[in-house]
Amino acid sequence: MIVHPQDGGMKRILTGIQPSGAFHIGNYFGAMKPLIAMQDRGQVFALIVDLHALTTVRDASALRDFTRRAAIDFLACGLDPERSVFFRQSEVPAHSQLLWILSVVTPMGLLERAHAFKDKVANGLSASAGLFTYPVLQAADILLYDADIVPVGKDQKQHLEIARDIAVKMNEAYGEVLKLPDAEITENVATIPGLDGRKMSKSYGNTIELFMDEKPLRKKIMGIVTDSTPMEAPKDPEGSTLVELYRLVASPIDVEQMKADFRAGGVGYGEFKQRLFEAIRDYFAPFRAYREELIRDPAKVDDILRKGAEQAREIAGAAYGRVEQAIGLR
Ligand code: TYM
Repeated sequence: MIVHPQDGGMKRILTGIQPSGAFHIGNYFGAMKPLIAMQDRGQVFALIVDLHALTTVRDASALRDFTRRAAIDFLACGLDPERSVFFRQSEVPAHSQLLWILSVVTPMGLLERAHAFKDKVANGLSASAGLFTYPVLQAADILLYDADIVPVGKDQKQHLEIARDIAVKMNEAYGEVLKLPDAEITENVATIPGLDGRKMSKSYGNTIELFMDEKPLRKKIMGIVTDSTPMEAPKDPEGSTLVELYRLVASPIDVEQMKADFRAGGVGYGEFKQRLFEAIRDYFAPFRAYREELIRDPAKVDDILRKGAEQAREIAGAAYGRVEQAIGLR
């Protein structure tokens, strides 16, 4: 059994987000918010997975900007660096080192079945070796910290199963050296829809970013795809993207009101979009002041990430040492 007396027996909870663009509300409700809420339940690890982002971002200054913005947005939304270990993946060499070791026990077939790889290639991304081994690096992220729980959106379910399978392969070959993690997918936020009703995703270009200015935010919301039911006619709230998004950011009473107005007819989609716009704006408003403060103080953000990386290097280094020992490198 792998136990961590240094955490006082607390569960370890870990997730990673790619700085491959600005964070969107799918990232927030699918992974960031659940992780932030779990800071009371265990030892949280939050990773900005910049090495993963290299599979899609080929512009150095863009990657730097996305990474900084990712850090600021995560902190602004409530990630507390005093309680959680918050860091950039690339600052902890053990991730890349373990990637290699895991890759030698990972069957090709396991990776060939990965939907995310197939989808990305189908969407025009070139099939690099890095894109193919992406899930192995993700397994390293998780296994280096002996994570118990990994809160993610539904699109990451298969990647977590792959991480578990890889851990099983290692343990079969070398004895119990890695801990098997569990995904934690919060059912009602498993797949947040985007502007066109498909899963919100950077690769579909249908995202609503966190902390947009009012004008572009309103424009995006007004662009949400709806059917052509006329204003007077009753509308079906079930499966409506507007209602799906509204219930994330509005009070239960307001959500019931919107559903009732859908059914009653006489209210057009423009009015519903206006309500959604206001609710999103108001939901994130309380985070804005701290975000502005962090934007004005880049040294503070650097300092938080540097300290986080130090903590992470120590924890990951110990786990990596255990692996090296188990496999005969040391
Ligand atoms: P990424 O960066 O694509 O997304 C980050 C998190 O946001 C969730 N998410 C969503 N949830 C609900 N609805 C949506 N529309 C939506 N879009 C994104 C994702 O499920 C994810 O939880 N491979 C991972 C990053 C990663 C990772 C890790 C995750 C690297 N190492 C270790 C967990 C543990 C990814 O691409 O996430």
